[in-house]
Amino acid sequence: MKKSGMATSLVALSCCAGLALSSAEAAVGKESEAAAKAAATVEKMTLEEKVVLTHGIMPLPFGFDVEIPKEAIPGAGYVAGIPRLGIPALTETDASLGVSYIGGLRGDGATALPSGVAMASTWNPALLQKGGATIGAEARAKGFNVLLAGGANLMREPRNGRTFEYLSEDPLLTGVLVGASIEGIQSNNIISTIKHFALNGQETGRKFADSLISEAAARESDLLAFQIGIEIGNPGSVMCAYNPVNGAQSCASDWLLNKVLKDDWGYEGFVMSDWGAVPGLEAALKGLDQQSGAQLDPAVFFGDTLKDAAKSDAAYKVRLDDMNKRILTAIYANGLEANPAKPGGTIDFKAHADVAEEVAKQGIVLLKNEKSLLPLAKSVKSIAVIGGYANAGVPAGSGSSLVHAEGGPSVVVPTDPGNPFSALLSETYHASSPLKAIKNVVPEAKVYYRNGRYVADAVMAAEKADVAIVFATQWMTEGLDVPDLSLPNGQDALIAAVAKANPNTIVVLETGGPVLMPWLGETAAVMEAWYAGIRGGEAIASVLFGDTNPAGRLPITFPASLNDLPRPELDGAKELEPDFLGAPKPGETLSVNYDIEGSDLGYRYNAREGHKALFPFGYGLSYTSFTSSSLRTDGATASFAVTNTGKRAGATVAQLYLLARDGKVKQRLVGFSRVELAPGQTQQVSVDIDPRLLADWTDAGWTIAAGDYSFALGENAETLGKPVTVKMAARTWRD
Ligand code: BGC
Repeated sequence: MKKSGMATSLVALSCCAGLALSSAEAAVGKESEAAAKAAATVEKMTLEEKVVLTHGIMPLPFGFDVEIPKEAIPGAGYVAGIPRLGIPALTETDASLGVSYIGGLRGDGATALPSGVAMASTWNPALLQKGGATIGAEARAKGFNVLLAGGANLMREPRNGRTFEYLSEDPLLTGVLVGASIEGIQSNNIISTIKHFALNGQETGRKFADSLISEAAARESDLLAFQIGIEIGNPGSVMCAYNPVNGAQSCASDWLLNKVLKDDWGYEGFVMSDWGAVPGLEAALKGLDQQSGAQLDPAVFFGDTLKDAAKSDAAYKVRLDDMNKRILTAIYANGLEANPAKPGGTIDFKAHADVAEEVAKQGIVLLKNEKSLLPLAKSVKSIAVIGGYANAGVPAGSGSSLVHAEGGPSVVVPTDPGNPFSALLSETYHASSPLKAIKNVVPEAKVYYRNGRYVADAVMAAEKADVAIVFATQWMTEGLDVPDLSLPNGQDALIAAVAKANPNTIVVLETGGPVLMPWLGETAAVMEAWYAGIRGGEAIASVLFGDTNPAGRLPITFPASLNDLPRPELDGAKELEPDFLGAPKPGETLSVNYDIEGSDLGYRYNAREGHKALFPFGYGLSYTSFTSSSLRTDGATASFAVTNTGKRAGATVAQLYLLARDGKVKQRLVGFSRVELAPGQTQQVSVDIDPRLLADWTDAGWTIAAGDYSFALGENAETLGKPVTVKMAARTWRD
């Protein structure tokens, strides 16, 4: 959905080779045709018809007084079509991690992929594309033609309840991965969104927390992630966010929607609102094209009200045509009318679960492995497995992205009974038991399971086993942030006690995002398995016993302390009552100052401030070892060699960072590549460096200041090789 493919190629070459480049280039041609066809259709539309595609409902038979047409499929959204003109209805489902189930109203299940942060830990765009294609195929088979996927908000706040849904704290990594995922989704002749545009950094006060940030910082961080993602994935739609940015609601922000997205980036698709995020009719003039789930807003602004405005006001008339043209462009570019999605399609759940398992395996990050305790020998005699409902399954994050896996969940803890959305809010475990998977790998071993509720009980089991594995969970949900980065329900104390009882204690973290680890020094091994999806148990067991060599790398900094965050206290946490819907109560206001870190999120902030992370961005261990060497770069491209210096086959993620400009710290990930290597094997890698990553955003656009730029290969953002310094000439450009 972009007029020019130039910038795409720069990014695509840095990491995803032919994949994104060819699809984006093809899309440019397809799109122009689609836009022309859309313009011709708009010519044929009556005024009445012009307000059909501009608003939709949430087709759920509870909570709202709204008529649900027969053809609407229970899901997040439905926008009527125009049969006279061959325009299909838009049937919308949430789908970041799989087709969501909305409390069982359709009576079906879907494949639950691991969380977004787990996907991103793979640093593998090809795998995200496959994951997207998998989800898209299921959506299609269920009759959906629009996927509300593509969460691309940067992780500015690790306590954000949606951290699990998002990808990373870095614009390049997020942009490349979200683009690949969207590309996969849309390969099914359906539309994907990219969301939530923009700067939707926390859930506390999510509908009114005003994100304050300078234009330069926004362009160099969150907006750049969207820009790259749009260039690569070419999504049919952009979903604007709940929150205001610099005083204007995102869904009515002239700057975000008209100026940045449509004018500067040349985006030709449509902007749909988040559900209940439209402040009024004037949002149409500010760049919003479609009002989603309109019963959640104060009124249906984009129906009759918009029609009346278009009759009397030329600005609305012009906009109405443009809104239709944009929605139709997305429909035609993705072939929705020519290849209608119909319910009742077949789904190969086995093949899809295999994809979910591969993502989980590649996304597991080994954080600590003292004395090479892992991988565990399959001759191990006895294991104590403790906590985390490991006997039943693996946790999932809640909210609109929650997928109920085919066959149903294994544990559901209701959290907000009485809330019409309580089914989306319950703490849910997918039925993939790590305990069972462990027993399958070592059927001869004696395995003791304890639920971990009583520390004394867990300690007794740990004392009599050769190895203790504690499964520690942190539940996160859309709508609510976590108050801090501790493990809830006394799990920190449980781990400390078990570790004291057994020196071979392994902690398997199943968290939505970073946590602190006060017990780290006492444990032998720690792995971050995130929310691992429908084959999570199997993936965890595979890494524990070495059938999978871990290669996941952290896409977000694990801070050493809350004091190292730009905002040690979460804004609004003290003043506001937790509220899933997040609308302001009378008198409530909130603003969040993102200029503290500006465009320096996570590892960049730590580099700037001189903080050391508990585990840095890009960090992850392997059962083999690697070196990266012979870096050569001119600042536009870079090449280097990666060698597997150990005894096992495995993958690593080569990372290239800008470290400094003219000696002043300015750390940025500028390239990466996941490489699979046999023992002793060396591979030459080359990456192209997107110049926007070296630049500052100024009034004149992107500006590279003349000077000395130092680059280094990194095992992670803190373990860096010898810098190579390049003299760069001054350069300024706009897109
Ligand atoms: C979420 C969106 C989601 C929409 C529809 C909103 O609450 O913020 O991510 O797509 O609901 O379910």
